[in-house]
Amino acid sequence: MAKRIKIGLIGCGMISGSHINGYLAHPQHAEIVAVCDTVDENAKRRAEQVLAGAETRANEAAANAKKTENPESRENLKENAARWTEYKDNGVKVFNDFNEMIKTCELDAVSLATPPFVHEAPTLAAANAGKHVFCEKPMARTATEARNMREACDKAGVKLAYQSGGTCLNPTSYAIRDYVTSGKIGDVHYGRLTSYRLRGRPNVDMFGFGRWFLNSAYSGGGTIYDTGVYDINRSIYLLGSPQPATISGIAYRGMLPEYTGDEINDVEEFASVFVRFTNGMSFTYEHGWSSNMAGQPQGIFIFGSKGSFSGNRLFLEKGKWETDDKGNRRRYQGNLEETPLELPDRHFPDKFRDFLNACNSDAQPVSNGDVGQKVTEIMSGALLSAKLGREITVEELYEIEALRTEPTPGWPILSGI
Ligand SMILES: NC(=O)c1ccc[n+]([C@@H]2O[C@H](COP(=O)([O-])OP(=O)(O)OC[C@H]3O[C@@H](n4cnc5c(N)ncnc54)[C@H](O)[C@@H]3O)[C@@H](O)[C@H]2O)c1
Repeated sequence: MAKRIKIGLIGCGMISGSHINGYLAHPQHAEIVAVCDTVDENAKRRAEQVLAGAETRANEAAANAKKTENPESRENLKENAARWTEYKDNGVKVFNDFNEMIKTCELDAVSLATPPFVHEAPTLAAANAGKHVFCEKPMARTATEARNMREACDKAGVKLAYQSGGTCLNPTSYAIRDYVTSGKIGDVHYGRLTSYRLRGRPNVDMFGFGRWFLNSAYSGGGTIYDTGVYDINRSIYLLGSPQPATISGIAYRGMLPEYTGDEINDVEEFASVFVRFTNGMSFTYEHGWSSNMAGQPQGIFIFGSKGSFSGNRLFLEKGKWETDDKGNRRRYQGNLEETPLELPDRHFPDKFRDFLNACNSDAQPVSNGDVGQKVTEIMSGALLSAKLGREITVEELYEIEALRTEPTPGWPILSGI
């Protein structure tokens, strides 16, 4: 029987509610035992949310158990009701120092819902104490931080997941990855991913977000780190986890209306990135919090020698040779046929369950430290390349990151190109 993973939540701001709901949805696999935030009020509010959420679920499960006629479902509902009811007796411990929580609380894992500048330190503290880590996206601000996090977790033999797995845990993504990695669309040599919002800059066009979003020292960067991270993560998964070799990027901020607030705003609103992978594939990412582009198809495009993906649509090349009277090949008549995607007949866990499963087995979470490090190399490399005005290698990226002084900043950009 799988162990029920005891979770300590670190960071109780905007997104932490989704972690609470995510773990409460799996009462047989997880139990939230503690929450932590440097702002006491935030931690207390989320602790109350855990207790209230558990109580509501317990009542609903008990009522449903009475109604259901299926004995197995009834038993499951009763067991889950009992687990959610336990929260009232056990309570949820509240901390304002994550080191203290990790030291004094009996935890199996921590779940980080802190801003990017507070991802590395709690990951290292948790790994050194033998706890698994689920980390919000982006995994880190710099490739070096990502590498430190991955190495600490690998060394400690604990699992590291970061929140982007939802982009991969579905039948379509699984099937595309299978077509790409098994050679069914031939040699995959190039891909492109485009994704723009019309206006979607946190704290400029969209409100209620932490102030750190626009400050690269805290966030690492803007649109690539905030939303591009999901796209880059999914593409790395679909392509079979290739290793980035070189990165070339441009970054832009200056969409109208310009930001006029008092807070630091030094992050990109739009970026275009070209990546060469060590296996010969290459990929372009165009990503924007903000753009004035209309009518341009968005999504992922994967080019193979026998076929392609245009978004989730599969096209296979089914051309024929035209031959002369003597049977000599004269001309190849290309013909691209849209072909239904063969989807796997299996269930996909959500990202929290994927992490909990990994904590209880030899499996890695789908968005794990290895993928997170590659994604961070692309994000950090893109902004460094934009700053230098030239392509860089991943080795150079680590060398240049190592030259910087503490505290490790992101890559601030000037307004405009
Ligand atoms: N807001 C969103 O829509 C959203 C969506 C998906 C993912 N995310 C990601 O989730 C993470 C958190 O984002 P958010 O929007 O919830 O930020 P937020 O600013 O709303 O919340 C962060 C919380 O972390 C706390 N915190 C800061 N330093 C801490 C420390 N040392 N120890 C304990 N707590 C500390 C803050 O007090 C705050 O309560 C980020 O990595 C972000 O990219 C956010």
